Formats: sequence, C-alpha cells, structure tokens
Amino acid sequence: MISKTTIDQVYETARLEEVIGDFVQLKKSGSNFKGLSPFSDERTPSFMVSPVKQIWKDFSSGKGGNVVAFLMEHEHFSYPEAIKYLAKKYQIEIEETEQTNEQKEQANERESMYLVSEFAQKYFEETLWEKELGKAIGLSYFKERGFTDETIRKFGLGYCLDQWDAFTTEALAKGYQLDFLQKTGLTIVKESATDAQSKRTFDRFKGRVQFPIHSMSGRVLGFGGRILTNDKKAAKYLNSPESDIYHKSKVLYGIYFAKQAIAKEDNCYLVEGYTDVIQLFQRGIQNVVASSGTALTSDQIRLINRLTNNITVLFDGDAAGLRASIRGIDLILEQGMNVKVCTFPEGEDPDSFAKNNSYEDVVAYLEGNAKDFIQFKTSLLAEEAANDPIKKADTIRDIVYSISRIPDRIKREIYIQECARMMQISEEVLFNTLAQLGKKELADAAKREKQDQKAFEVVRNEPTPQKVDVQYELERKIIEMLLLYGNEQQEFEDLILKENESGDLVLEPEQLEAKVYEKIYLDLQEDEIELTHERFRNIYYKLIEALNEKENFTVNTFVADLEQEVVAEVSSILMEEEKYMLHNWERKDIYPKDKKKGIAQLVSETILTLRVFLIKKRIVALQADTEHKTDDNTETLEEIVNYLQLNTLLNKKLNRVLS
Ligand code: CTP
Ligand code: MN
Repeated sequence: MISKTTIDQVYETARLEEVIGDFVQLKKSGSNFKGLSPFSDERTPSFMVSPVKQIWKDFSSGKGGNVVAFLMEHEHFSYPEAIKYLAKKYQIEIEETEQTNEQKEQANERESMYLVSEFAQKYFEETLWEKELGKAIGLSYFKERGFTDETIRKFGLGYCLDQWDAFTTEALAKGYQLDFLQKTGLTIVKESATDAQSKRTFDRFKGRVQFPIHSMSGRVLGFGGRILTNDKKAAKYLNSPESDIYHKSKVLYGIYFAKQAIAKEDNCYLVEGYTDVIQLFQRGIQNVVASSGTALTSDQIRLINRLTNNITVLFDGDAAGLRASIRGIDLILEQGMNVKVCTFPEGEDPDSFAKNNSYEDVVAYLEGNAKDFIQFKTSLLAEEAANDPIKKADTIRDIVYSISRIPDRIKREIYIQECARMMQISEEVLFNTLAQLGKKELADAAKREKQDQKAFEVVRNEPTPQKVDVQYELERKIIEMLLLYGNEQQEFEDLILKENESGDLVLEPEQLEAKVYEKIYLDLQEDEIELTHERFRNIYYKLIEALNEKENFTVNTFVADLEQEVVAEVSSILMEEEKYMLHNWERKDIYPKDKKKGIAQLVSETILTLRVFLIKKRIVALQADTEHKTDDNTETLEEIVNYLQLNTLLNKKLNRVLS
C-alpha cells in the first residue's frame, strides 16, 4: 500500500494542467485551459481544465474529475498506478505502508522480475536490429510477413539467437540474478544428472522471434516466441511460463497499444494470435487484442470491459474451431457485454485478410459481416438441426442457455423473441426453457445485472436531467456552496419572531456570525430536511463531516479521499460555470443575481427557497388528502393552517433577503 503521506504529497505537488498537458494540447482561456476532448472526436474544444480548482471536465463525454481520475480515464491506470505515475513525474519518493517484511520481499522480487523482463526485451530487440544474425534471420522473417520497420519497433519485436545461452550469459554479465531469470522463465536451469553441484543454463527462447507481452500500463510481463523452422515436433509458439508477474489468464496481447483506440471506438476486436493483432494494427485498425490461442477468461473480459461494452470476436476461416470457440462467448455475455462475431472467408485469418486488403476494404468487411452473436449462433445451429427434431431440442436449450447468461432482462426478452422468429417456434417454448434453467441461474443473472449497473455508473457519468427540477437544482446549489464557501465565516441575518411592546408578534432582524457550513447544517437540521437525491445526500454528509473536522478544508484535499464516482459528481458541480465560458457566454447573463450578492445572502436565499418549496409541496399533499377523506378532517386542516403560517413567515424572510 502506498502511504497516505505519499498520496497527499502527490496531490499537493501535481499540477493538473501540467499532467493533462502531456496528453492534450491546452490553450489558456480566461482563468482556465481548454482543449479538444481526448475522449471523443470533436472539432470545437469542450474539454476544460481549471488550475484553480484542480479539476477537469469533458463536456462532450460528461467525464470529469481530478488529476488521478484523468489518468485512470485516459491511460486506464488503476488508482495505485496513477499515483505511482505522478510520483515519478514529480520525483516524489513512494513510501509504502502496512507491508510485512514478507510483502516487501515479494514486491522487490516482482520488481526484479519486471526489470529482468525489460532487459530481455531490449536485448532481443537490439539483437534483431543490430546483430548480423538477428538481421539476417529475425528481421527478415518479420519483413517477409509484411511488417514495416515502424510496426516492428512499435511492438518491440525481437530475436533470440540460436545459441544455447547467449542471452543468459549477457544478462548475468550485466548483473541480473539467475534466480529472477529462472523465475521469469527466460532461462532454463538444468542440474547435471551426474553432478548435483553443477548446473547448466539454457535460453528458453533460443532461435525464436520474440513478441513481448505488455501489461495494460506497458510493462513487459513475458514473451511469445515463434519458431522459424518447420520442425513438426517443436511447438510453433513457446510462451513465458506462469510467474508472479505473468498470469496468462489475466493478460491480453496488444491491450497496451489498443486501449486508447478501444475506448475511443467504443469497440474491441478480439483475435486469436499475435500476428493477427499486429497486422490489423498496421492496417490502421488499432482497437484489437488477442487471447493468445487460449479460451478467453473472465479476467480478460474484465480488462476489455474497463474500456468498452462492445466486443467483436473475429474467427479464422476454418469452420473446425468455430463450434468450440462459440462456447467461450457465453462468458462475455455474462459480463453484460454486447457481442458480435465475424468470420473470414475460407482459408483466411485476420492476419492474411488485413495483409491483403486495403484499410477501407477491411473496415467495410468488418462492418458488413459482423453479426450479433445470439443471432449468429441461432442461425448456425438452426441450420445444422433443421431436419433433426432431437438435435433441434438440444439446440434450443443451447441457445437459451446463452441467452440466460445475459444480465439485462430486457435484452434477454428481445433475444427470445428474435430467436423464436428465426427458429420458427413459439416464444412460449423458449420462455419455458429459460424458466427450466432453474431459479438459481436466473438469480445469478440478476446479481450480475446489479454488478453490471454498478460498474456502469463508475465509468459513465449520468446525464443531468433535462427538465428543470427545482429541488434538484437547489440541492445541487447547496453542495456547490459547501464546496466553494463551506469554511468561510459570514455574518448572517436572521429574522426572529418577537413580541413588541404592544404585545404583537413581529419579525426582528438579528445578526449571527457563523461558518457557511454551520449555517446550512443547522437550518436544514431545524426543519429536518434531508436532501432527496441520494448522490447529493452522500456528498452532503461527507462535506459536513470534513468541514467540521478540518480547520484547513480545501476542495482539493477533500476530493483526494473520495471514490472516483463521487469525484466526477463534485467536479461536474464545480465546473458548471465553466461550461458557459466555453460558449463565451457571460456568466452574469445566466445567473445575474449571484455575482452581486454576498455569500451570506446566497446561502440564506437558497435554504429559504428550499424550505418554502418543501412546505408548498407538503401543503398541496395535505390538501389533496382532505379531498379524498369524508370523515373528520380537523387534524389535517390544522396542520395545513400551521404550514400556511410558516409559509408566510418564510416568504417574509425570503423577501427580506431578496430585497
Ligand atoms: N499459440 C500458442 N502456442 C502454439 C500455437 C499457438 O501459444 N503452439 C497461440 C499464439 O498466441 C498464436 C495463437 O495461439 O498467436 C494463434 O495460433 P495460430 O493461429 O497457430 O498462430 P498464428 O498467430 O496464425 O501464427 P502464424 O501466423 O505465425 O503461424
Ligand atoms: Mn497465422
């Protein structure tokens, strides 16, 4: 764990505009910066960065947040990765906490394994480009496959000389420990059968061209090595073994290079092999990753799911593997993703197809031939089972099973209807089969639906409601005031009901010194008002707590402790005003009153307006109540009178504040 001190230091030091400036061209615009959204294609800038608030907002996608949120969205870093990135940029030493010695050792060990892998990648790459044998064998092989220099460099491809231990010797000479060479699988250590003391070392990838496998954040985790001879006994591809840094089931080949394009295109192409990825990428289709020959795992799908909800699986031209591969797709459905599949002409795979066709043709082919998975499966199986009733029954169960994997109930129903039509059977039969799959299955699906929605909320910002909802606006305003002025000491004027000399009740002004947050909290408390919108209510209590605890409350440090979801909400509130500046509207035309008003007045006005609004609502509800009732109404009527009096009082106060 990274210590809180380090995290605080990172937040204090990092300048949002500098960090974002590394990825987006920013232009000064008033007190802010603006630029083209890195999350969508646009010609007019709608991406705003506020150096004062240290918050960004992308008005085209609705995303926003602090510096860490930007790195998580843009670079798809995890939270610790983002902190580490910033620490590195600002040369802050990372302090780890709560690590046992064993954990520290493990972390060091993993780090050493990363370093060895990085070294190996550079070494193999250098061999390919610099050494005579590397050029003659490795480089010419890649060129023959149609890879350009640029592509070969981009993917960091390399070559391991066809010698027993050239690489291992070099690594040891450079000071890398045999232990880590062995643990990463780069070196194979064999003990001599006759002499237990003497060991021999071999390069695992001897004589193979190298495809380095990167993590989402670009670290080298392992390698795939392709043989260059036609030796039928040796495996065509040899991969790094499982290790503390390389977990085959959690990695997708190409994800590091594809992640931006996947997010931007909002779709991911999934292929089988290394060369399929590279060839498509070189052809200009960059949102592509490979499962590297094995069946897709749910961890791999989750990697994609962080970037998009849409996946298109590309199958080779040979029909043999098709049926088997189709099974694995149910897993993708389970994650609530939309799945399409696309097959290639007989004898072609994505590699050959991309190599032999232009960008336009490949895109046109993919767009023209990608079919919805359930429909694809239904037509494929229906064809096979056409004249065989028993097979048909199996087929129905098979398809309904796939449909049952989909978490979204509405989608499931649409598919049932569609399949009934395609297979020419009644929907009822399909719905019955679905029901037979058992309550447990459906309960699982419902659970996934919930999870799915949660995940969805984190990634995408909910759009603000279109209709003006007074209560929504007021509650939002309260949050805004707490964020901007929460800690400010202000002089508030309150009207107190008092008896004058002649015994009448009159309103008398009384001055009261308080902090903005105290005033808001106490006033709302007095009327037992709770914010009705859950997201505001959550932020409200967090804010009150933070303001109450910390003398030197700042939005910046407040935001640092929040979940990313809440950060997005907070920043969208704070950046609201910047939106108008984007369009060069004068803010004063939008909220003419706010600017002239003092903070105290703004606070009083907002709270009073909310109170009046709620009372009116209550009165209307009570009146409706009396209309339905035929029996004794006295109590309700009394209540209405009380509320009406309160309403008058509050309106008087409000008028005073407004004047
Ligand atoms: N694979 C593997 N081990 C093998 C064969 C294949 O790990 N013995 C994996 C590799 O990741 C490979 C993928 O499965 O990229 C697809 O296999 P295949 O279609 O045979 O390889 P291609 O990528 O088409 O390789 P090439 O075009 O170089 O023959
Ligand atoms: Mn191939």
